[in-house]
Amino acid sequence: MANPHAPYLDGCTDILSELDDKYVLSLRLNRPKARNALRTQLLHELAQTLGKANRDEHVRCVVLTGGEKVFAAGADITEMADKTPVDVLNDPRADHWAAIRTFNKPLIGAVNGFCLGGGNELAMHCDILIAGKNAQFGQPEINLGIIPGAGGTQRLTQMIGKSKAMRMVLAAQFMSAEDAEKAGLVAEVCEPELTYDKAYALACVIASKPPVAARLAKESVLKASDALLAEGLAFERKAFGTLFATEDKAEGVAAFMEKRKPVFKGR
Ligand code: HXC
Repeated sequence: MANPHAPYLDGCTDILSELDDKYVLSLRLNRPKARNALRTQLLHELAQTLGKANRDEHVRCVVLTGGEKVFAAGADITEMADKTPVDVLNDPRADHWAAIRTFNKPLIGAVNGFCLGGGNELAMHCDILIAGKNAQFGQPEINLGIIPGAGGTQRLTQMIGKSKAMRMVLAAQFMSAEDAEKAGLVAEVCEPELTYDKAYALACVIASKPPVAARLAKESVLKASDALLAEGLAFERKAFGTLFATEDKAEGVAAFMEKRKPVFKGR
């Protein structure tokens, strides 16, 4: 991003943005100290930015990236500590995720470093992923006594198949960039310092295509899996909320914040 000081949407701090004369809007997650954890404010800013971009004919393609060592470490665990199932039901973040899901222009993810939990779920909302060799993809929610809650169980399974998805979701094992390319999670792997440039070059190609055709092409490709997705997303959301009533979730989150190993009891 050449000039992150000219924001596309005023007032954002968690998302840096720049729209250029190639019709490409570049967005960067910007909470490096918290490893780009997706706090509510960040998701709100992202949803608002994409909402504006949806209506703006000067935006034809978007590149979303994070930091050099972390794309995003997932949901902000400190925000989850006191949440109940009812809080999850009323959580405004569901609306922010919906705005990201319904963004109708091509969205390219440029991923370096850790891409975990909600961070991986955000990456999977992108239409094409370019990854640096240092990228690591994971759904470690089970270590916190919960499960993915923004489509991870569904999109990951669709993209890499049941067995590999189960290994990531049940054992919290990470997947390397190379394996992610083989499995179909990412389109291309490159040197980490080239990740954004590769994604941007691809965005420029896409932005040079007829925008209405690009929009309908995206919607059509997504239809290949959308029908199955809706039911799975609704089930996952309920299961995710239910887990906020368990002692194991309280223990998992407390252990993370206290930097110790959790002791799970199945309650
Ligand atoms: C809040 C986080 C965080 C997170 C890191 N931090 N991840 N804060 N939420 N998800 C904070 C740490 O507490 C620490 O704060 C600072 O960022 C640096 O973290 P370190 O662990 O010291 O950094 P590092 O050694 O570089 O390790 C990076 C990491 C690790 C591998 C990404 O931080 C990590 O494993 N994070 C948690 C990943 C995770 O469990 N994600 C799933 C979240 S649940 P201090 O104050 O000590 O400096 C989820 C559910 C999605 O995503 C549901 C969607 C609806």
